[in-house]
Amino acid sequence: MGHPLAGTLFVPCNFKCSGALCLTPPLEGARLAFRFVKSLSSPITLALGLRRTGKSSVIMISLNELGLPYIYVDLRKFEEKGFASYRDLVVELEREVNRLTSRFPGLLELLRRVEGVEVMGGGVRLRWGGRKRVTISSLFEALNDWAEDRVVFVIDEAQELINMRGANLLPALAYSFDNLRRVRVVLSGSKMGLLYRYLGVEDPRSPLYGRAMNEVELKPFSREMAEQFLRLGLSELGVEFRKYDTVYDAIGGIPGWLTYFGYYYGQGRDLGRALERTLRTALGLIREEFESFLRTRYVARERYLAIMRTIARCAAWSEIRRALEASEGARVSDSELSNYLTQLMDSSWIVKTDRGYCPSEPLIGKAFGG
Ligand SMILES: Nc1ncnc2c1ncn2[C@@H]1O[C@H](COP(=O)(O)OP(=O)(O)O)[C@@H](O)[C@H]1O
Ligand SMILES: [Mg+2]
Repeated sequence: MGHPLAGTLFVPCNFKCSGALCLTPPLEGARLAFRFVKSLSSPITLALGLRRTGKSSVIMISLNELGLPYIYVDLRKFEEKGFASYRDLVVELEREVNRLTSRFPGLLELLRRVEGVEVMGGGVRLRWGGRKRVTISSLFEALNDWAEDRVVFVIDEAQELINMRGANLLPALAYSFDNLRRVRVVLSGSKMGLLYRYLGVEDPRSPLYGRAMNEVELKPFSREMAEQFLRLGLSELGVEFRKYDTVYDAIGGIPGWLTYFGYYYGQGRDLGRALERTLRTALGLIREEFESFLRTRYVARERYLAIMRTIARCAAWSEIRRALEASEGARVSDSELSNYLTQLMDSSWIVKTDRGYCPSEPLIGKAFGG
């Protein structure tokens, strides 16, 4: 549909661009994910995976490939704040609805009838407060009535909805799931546990209880895929390179970190320096993101940090507890510790393995001294 990516399955990523719109062809995981999201075979599709594994990229490329009209809301920026208000969400929606109506003026006719929507000139204004505020269900309905084929509604980093004040989107999602055939919802989540908890598919009290959703999970690249990925990108830059194992051993297989490495290496062509820069960037980002996690948990801040330092190289429950009590100088109850670990797991900072609790990717471990 006029988009530069339309018609091409994958755009080779040559590390010149650090934008999200590039995927490298032979990476089966990404290709499968792409097909999957593109199929939109269930009313709700979940795109899951650690941060920087390529969820947003897969979604954006799928959308451009599909050529269907879409609304794309990214909640990532609300993560830092620790909460989003209904107003924040509506402001984002307004921008997206206006992007759609400027392309499809016909949509304005349907929106005119929606409460909380004011049509003026070629655009709309959405009301977020008062009795006549716009509801997400009514927007879904208008989109459904308007769409000829399907219309895609994407919420990127959707687990942040858990912190949204003043509105609950679950009933609208359930309503759409059950009744609106042409609305297809895609929800992405880096914090998988939180997203599941929020949606409550297994919780009889949740509006979305029992709804079968499609799921795709993007995993970090394996050693082989990481090599393929770097080889392709660097060869496009005309750069010779052989030390793939060194890179994988140092930074692991998260596509986003590999992309930084490729970019830095392409600039300086110095392995040590490129690794150092990648690590500095990555650890900085991870620590910043952990600060966002702590923002709403400041009372337990030191405890969380003590736990992460212990888990940096994997640790068993009893070790974590000992370290925590040593740093506290006091007893910590089982239920407290279990609560901390659950929250860290829900937000994908750590995972439980047969070696105990471990960082969910190697650089998270490094950021805490591992
Ligand atoms: N399969 C892939 N091929 C090439 N680059 C990728 C791939 N997956 C992710 N990337 C790159 O990694 C970075 C992070 O991807 P992004 O889509 O933002 O991840 P997420 O949304 O999961 O946090 C981006 O710069 C993107 O270009
Ligand atoms: Mg993303």
